[in-house]
Amino acid sequence: MKYPDELIDEIRSRNDIVDIVGQFVSLKRSGSNYTGLCPFHNEKTPSFSVSPSKQMCHCFGCGAGGNVITFIMKYQNYTFPEALKYLADRAGINLPEAEFTEEEKKRRSRKETLYNINLKAAAYFCWCLQNREGEEGLKYLKGRGLSDETIKRFGLGFSPISRSNLFDYLKKQGFSTELIRESGLVTYEETKGFNDKFWNRVMFPIADEHNKVIAFGGRVMSDAKPKYLNSPETEIFDKSRTIYGLNIARSSRRDFFILCEGYMDVISQHQAGFDNAVASLGTAFTSGHASILKRLKKPIYLAYDSDGAGVTAALRAIKILRETDMVCRVISLKPYKDPDEFIKAEGAEAYEKRIKEAENGFFFEVRILYESKNINDPDEKTAFVKEVCAKLASMSDEVERENYMASFADRYMIPVETVKREVSAIAARNGGEYGIAERPKSSLARAKDPDAGIKKIQRTLLTWISEEPKIYTAVKDIISPADFTDRVYFAVATRLFADVEAGVMNPAAIVSMFEEEADQAMVAEIFNTELERIESQDERRKALSDMITAIKRNSLETMDAKENQSMDEMMRILEERKKLEKLKNIKFTI
Ligand code: CTP
Ligand code: MN
Repeated sequence: MKYPDELIDEIRSRNDIVDIVGQFVSLKRSGSNYTGLCPFHNEKTPSFSVSPSKQMCHCFGCGAGGNVITFIMKYQNYTFPEALKYLADRAGINLPEAEFTEEEKKRRSRKETLYNINLKAAAYFCWCLQNREGEEGLKYLKGRGLSDETIKRFGLGFSPISRSNLFDYLKKQGFSTELIRESGLVTYEETKGFNDKFWNRVMFPIADEHNKVIAFGGRVMSDAKPKYLNSPETEIFDKSRTIYGLNIARSSRRDFFILCEGYMDVISQHQAGFDNAVASLGTAFTSGHASILKRLKKPIYLAYDSDGAGVTAALRAIKILRETDMVCRVISLKPYKDPDEFIKAEGAEAYEKRIKEAENGFFFEVRILYESKNINDPDEKTAFVKEVCAKLASMSDEVERENYMASFADRYMIPVETVKREVSAIAARNGGEYGIAERPKSSLARAKDPDAGIKKIQRTLLTWISEEPKIYTAVKDIISPADFTDRVYFAVATRLFADVEAGVMNPAAIVSMFEEEADQAMVAEIFNTELERIESQDERRKALSDMITAIKRNSLETMDAKENQSMDEMMRILEERKKLEKLKNIKFTI
């Protein structure tokens, strides 16, 4: 990280954190802060807090947080320089290029090279499809009803029957063997050497949101197995975050997305005018996919295969979408297997009609459950009603829950009172709460920390000082940064105290002292501890005195516990002990 601090400071101060976070998260004012649903974990009640005065954010649920740069890095999955560039552009600040460290330059250039290898490979496959070696492939794609325009739009290609034509081609383009291997387009075995991974397949390039080719899928033209072969994950291809077709669908004018299972499904739908179709490919739909789609703020229509496996996959996707708080509906493709086959048989107009008739995701689940039971059997009927009621009880929004309860009772001819009674009974068992919000451990989740108690007190003091700098004046003769026993806390206290002495207050800058995401989140936590509102002056004094005593005692114990103390250290311990003794009689003026 080689940008001058002043530049980073300027970029940060010209991008208000409430504006930036507000672009992605809907925020509500609450006291002097703003709160919203945390974008970094699934939750139903807001625990993500943004502080305009401190220019920081912090999630009380999962612990994520930091300043505006941290937020963009985490939200957009950017590196530090990428986030800085994004924010600089937004503020109209010119960011000098070429100030990357050697390591960053290397990594960037590796990524750039991987993009280039994929781009060159895509061009090679396209060329093959349009030439003699690709005749079979073109015939196959045309046979499946794809127009020249569609083939071009999706950059479809062909990998010919050859051992290493692509590898040789890429070598000739000047790429290193190491990176060609890294791209996953060739395989290496000691006995066989370098071989192309894909051969005799029609090729589907996979693009990221910026239209860069990051991987491929290849389909055999017969019934051979495996039907599809996909690039392995690489530095530029993360399956759980890649959505096929999104590069095009994101600018569709339709106000929803169609989520399906396959390459050909996406392509057929686009050709039929449904340019909002996307797929999670070669892998099940995950919460990572859901969070990417959620940012685009449109409902999801599922067009999964109509067979048993497709229904199971749809149920899973519905669950994930619900946990992500996204609206979803299910398109029925019966009696056809998938959208590709439906459109080929019935055409675009009939498909449009199916979209209009799409079933609400909740009632799709209920119907599948209903169909799995023998409703004439009272026990099975009871189980059915109870399972549905449990789902209803997990809805936290009261209006939504009421509507669904009424609608369910009506559709399945169950007295609405019965449903209501059962739903409240379930909630009562959950401590009277609806929609039991999960509190997942974040990726930063800490192991149980034996120092949690004292750290909380240290945090409270630091937050308090940042909100009322005069508190520092009252305690500065007693407390020093060395009393903060954790590495990050110590660094934060050192900087905060120096800032207060100098009459500046810029907690967001303190975040930038740290490079690790976990450290930045910790700083945000340090400055966002909830302070109790204490009105009376006496109580404030007492609270401060208790805090200082606890911090000093802990600091003293830590010093005491150290083995092989030097003479100096022993003297200091004696002195500190005296201070602690005197503390009982000090009355802070605050
Ligand atoms: N898939 C895969 N590897 C396989 C089989 C399937 O990666 N061996 C992925 C592909 O992304 C495929 C999707 O799962 O598009 C759905 O598989 P399936 O329904 O079997 O294929 P279709 O999309 O219907 O393919 P096609 O119409 O070409 O037969
Ligand atoms: Mn198909």
